[in-house]
Amino acid sequence: MAAVKRNLLVTSALPYANGAIHIGHLVEYIQTDIWVRFQRLMGNRVVYLCGDDAHGTPIMLRARSEGLAPEQFIARMNQEHRADFARFGVQFDCYYSTHSPENEALCHCFYERLKTGGHIVHRDVEQFFDPVENIFLPDRFIRGQCPACKSPDQYGDSCEICGKHYNPTDLLNPKSAVSGAVPERRSSRHFFLRLEDFREPLQKLLRTGLVDSVVANKLEEWFGKELKDWDISRDAPFFGFPIPGETDKYFYNWLDAPIGYLAALARHLGGSAADAEEYWQMEDLEVHHFIGKDIIYFHALFWPAMLLGAGLKPPKQLCVHGHLTINGEKMSKSRGTFINAAQYARHLDPQWLRYYFATRLSALPADIDLSFDDFCNRVNSELVGKLVNLISRAAPILTRLLEGRTGIVTVEALPLLNEFRAAESALAADYDQRNFAAVTRRICALADQANKFVENQAPWSLVKSDAEAARGVLTAALECGRILMIYLKPIIPDIAASVEKCLNIRPQTWRDIQDSMPSHIIKQFEHLTGRVEERKIQDMLNENKAQATPIIASPAPAAAVAGTEPLAPECSIEQFSTIDLRVARVIRAEALEASDKLMKVELDAGPLGKRTVLAGIKKAYLPEQLNGRLVIFCANLAPRKMKFGTSEGMILASGPGGTEVFLLSVDERATPGQRVH
Ligand code: MSP
Ligand code: ZN
Repeated sequence: MAAVKRNLLVTSALPYANGAIHIGHLVEYIQTDIWVRFQRLMGNRVVYLCGDDAHGTPIMLRARSEGLAPEQFIARMNQEHRADFARFGVQFDCYYSTHSPENEALCHCFYERLKTGGHIVHRDVEQFFDPVENIFLPDRFIRGQCPACKSPDQYGDSCEICGKHYNPTDLLNPKSAVSGAVPERRSSRHFFLRLEDFREPLQKLLRTGLVDSVVANKLEEWFGKELKDWDISRDAPFFGFPIPGETDKYFYNWLDAPIGYLAALARHLGGSAADAEEYWQMEDLEVHHFIGKDIIYFHALFWPAMLLGAGLKPPKQLCVHGHLTINGEKMSKSRGTFINAAQYARHLDPQWLRYYFATRLSALPADIDLSFDDFCNRVNSELVGKLVNLISRAAPILTRLLEGRTGIVTVEALPLLNEFRAAESALAADYDQRNFAAVTRRICALADQANKFVENQAPWSLVKSDAEAARGVLTAALECGRILMIYLKPIIPDIAASVEKCLNIRPQTWRDIQDSMPSHIIKQFEHLTGRVEERKIQDMLNENKAQATPIIASPAPAAAVAGTEPLAPECSIEQFSTIDLRVARVIRAEALEASDKLMKVELDAGPLGKRTVLAGIKKAYLPEQLNGRLVIFCANLAPRKMKFGTSEGMILASGPGGTEVFLLSVDERATPGQRVH
């Protein structure tokens, strides 16, 4: 029966360009990637899109504090994000950015159509303004005393102590988190999208399967009151797209972010905004957005309203997941559980995390807990002990003792193999409904049976008395292993590929489940994956604790960034002048591969000659961003022998460390060797 192939467009939410990808994010990208790989394995047509969400005040400020133009900063983040996703096997058809010409063109189209449709209104809004930085402050960049419980140092939108939501203008003793200044109230004209215009179609959408019924019931509440107009504009200075025909007005980044899905589509098609629209409007195209529960409002109200207003079809489905907790608690920097994707990958196998998340994921938007005990247990006893074990036991016996040739499956195994093949439709249904926990449960149960079968047949002793019978048992074991790996392919694609290589078979698809391996020679078994050692997890957490690097700085929370680090004891001018600070130019910078933090920087200090400095800035800069740049360094610091060589000085920078290191800049008129006073 030739099933009708589905035509799918799948997205994961666009991560903000102001921080590294962490394992919380990975829940979503791994979940989406598993679903996409499954659909492909079934032969469905899928385009999987994502990209960086590159606009907004936090990104503008972050770039500024690093002395970079926002464009440079987001280019660096884009590279890092791509590398992180690649490590975890998350394979997009296109990973783009909201800061792109395609996206700007699309934003103009949407805006024009919404305006023509009469859905945009204007109103004056009073907001806090930072008189030092000359910017309007987003809610999260204002700190002050909670108007309800009077707790100090709360955010402008809600209190972390009593949980109350309020307007930033209600805060007591407000301060700008950027400059520390007392913000002023200023009024400016803002643009709003009238959501009420779309009430009926939006409500209908929710009732007809846009979200799972649990989420839908919750969202029904929104329609109990008037849908508030949505503020889609921001004032200059802002990093984003200017609103056409206006001065100093920009589109709010949440307007251009979801349009970024379409921009990535345009890019993928190698075409224009119009091509993307045409593709999107294809009658059989199903659009599925994977998102976290924190951004439902944007995807269930604003985005469909924008699409409807622009004459485009709304998405078919929002696939909502919950948030990641670690050992039952929110990710925390001080406990070392705020783990970056890159950091994880340095200590542990990414395939393990894919497997573990799969065992915890269902279609419900419930939070997902990563407990490290459970993680070790599942990886060691299920992934390694049951699934990989089947192949890693059978294959070496066959190659060592029976020339590596498979034969005819032993008759005793036929009922088992039938059961393996019959599980196909239930597994496909679980995958399609994002019930990956059920998928792994079923697969483990099958593996248990196969392992028991091999145990009973004991081919390692059988081979001594009846080689052909042993070949039949081993062939059956490998056949079970092959089918299991097809079932697992979306979850652990790298391990599955190694199994294909070992079994010496072409890349398998879902259809191959019902086929059998022909009699052929398999290859020498190569190690597929090892067991997790608890020590490695501890190493990762300890390293992380030691660094306590802020990963998402919005706004930069560390004392060193806010400038509230306690003051060092007073020193005299004489003491100060013992430190010889000089200007130097970077001639060459090289990221040390063996070190997480260090960059080897060669300096030209004019008459003082050349110096080699090992600086802890690898995470914050790329070598090419440093070449030719003027820096200040301490020239009379005693040379220090380090693991990677001797450091002859120290380059001056601010910030708490990790990605948050900001080199001090020097006026280009200064010359290398000059003393800094
Ligand atoms: N830029 C917006 C999305 C724009 S989509 C048009 C954004 N970015 S984000 O970087 O904060 O989050 C990206 C995705 O990762 C979101 O779907 C979010 O829910 C998810 N997660 C971020 N932290 C998470 C956890 N700790 N746990 C699970 N998912 C999390 O929102
Ligand atoms: Zn409070």
